[in-house]
Amino acid sequence: MRSVLKFFRIFIFIALASSFAFAADPSVPQEGGKQYAEVVGGNNALFSKDDLANPYLYGGPEVEAIKGWGIGSPNAIGLGEIFTLLQGHYFATVFALLIVCVPLAFLGHFVMIGQRKFSHGKKIRVFSGYNIFVHWATAIPFVLICLTGLVMVFGDKLGGGAFVRLARDVHGIATILFVIFGVLMFLMWVKDALPKAYDIQWLMIMGGYLSKENKPIPAGKFNAGQKMWFWVCTLGGFVMAISGAYMFFQFADIDTLRLMALVHNGLGFLVIALLITHIYMAVFAIEGALHSIIDGKMGEEEIAILHSYYYKELTSA
Ligand code: HEM
Ligand code: HEM
Repeated sequence: MRSVLKFFRIFIFIALASSFAFAADPSVPQEGGKQYAEVVGGNNALFSKDDLANPYLYGGPEVEAIKGWGIGSPNAIGLGEIFTLLQGHYFATVFALLIVCVPLAFLGHFVMIGQRKFSHGKKIRVFSGYNIFVHWATAIPFVLICLTGLVMVFGDKLGGGAFVRLARDVHGIATILFVIFGVLMFLMWVKDALPKAYDIQWLMIMGGYLSKENKPIPAGKFNAGQKMWFWVCTLGGFVMAISGAYMFFQFADIDTLRLMALVHNGLGFLVIALLITHIYMAVFAIEGALHSIIDGKMGEEEIAILHSYYYKELTSA
């Protein structure tokens, strides 16, 4: 009996000691990298502690340990450090700065330079019904994607939970619509968005937006700024969809997933900044510009000044 008890005591001791020795070290990647995938793209924000029966079951301590990583941490591998640093401390801040500073800069432009005005005389048709339909069929999901993307970025500040999870679902579903219509938008406008030599002149005078004087600006159907937006929202949008798909399906090793999250956030900055710019240009910078993408018509004077090469093409035809 005594020997059985002795054996039992030794067994308990070994079991306890080995459980400490073999327990998951929070700073070492676990098999399959599951708890690291947890932090990809700020997923953490999607779970409030109350949502979990046991917050520590879902990699809680590991996530806390990873948050403590800095540059040169002994156990960090691959892009782990840079990803953790940017995701943990900078991405949300940069997005916050962008959504505050870009509109403020345009408010400054609106107050100091003001709205561009053209005569409301003769109107010329510049966009077909098909152009208008494809623009909005792409734009509406795109705006939803950006808004829900921001909800995810600030998920923890918004309390996490069902609202942020819903945003994540909308983000994914809207991506499907965006990809379908985005391809049509790409095909429809790619020819007008190819770079031309006069785009350099346009960039040098910053599109003439710093002055109110109405003298002809070097631009075709689309100016260099509009072309830039075209490429960012179509090709850039597809890169966003691909990097997002990697994060959603997690069909890659952990380092590739980190890279995709870095790309998604980095390009996301540009997408958000240019979307705000696009809306400002369409709604505020030029009086009545919005009408062209509603009824397809643009004032003749506006085309002659802001799209002078296109105007020459139209009048010589
Ligand atoms: C929700 C607000 C939006 C408004 C008010 C708006 C308005 C406009 C207007 C007025 C134009 C014609 C510009 C011109 O030729 O003078 C235009 C063009 C265009 N829009 Fe939008 N748009 C919006 C959102 C979007 C979104 C989300 C996308 C991205 C998918 C997009 C992509 C484009 C592209 C590629 C063009 C042609 C190139 C350019 O003018 O920049 N738009 N939009
Ligand atoms: C055209 C632009 C974009 C496309 C096509 C796109 C697409 C996607 C897709 C398909 C996913 C995976 C969906 C999921 O996990 O449920 C995703 C995830 C994510 N996106 Fe975007 N996105 C775009 C723009 C943005 C922007 C501008 C932001 C930030 C403001 C953003 C933030 C995020 C975040 C934080 C995740 C991670 C969600 C997760 O971990 O599951 N996205 N995106």
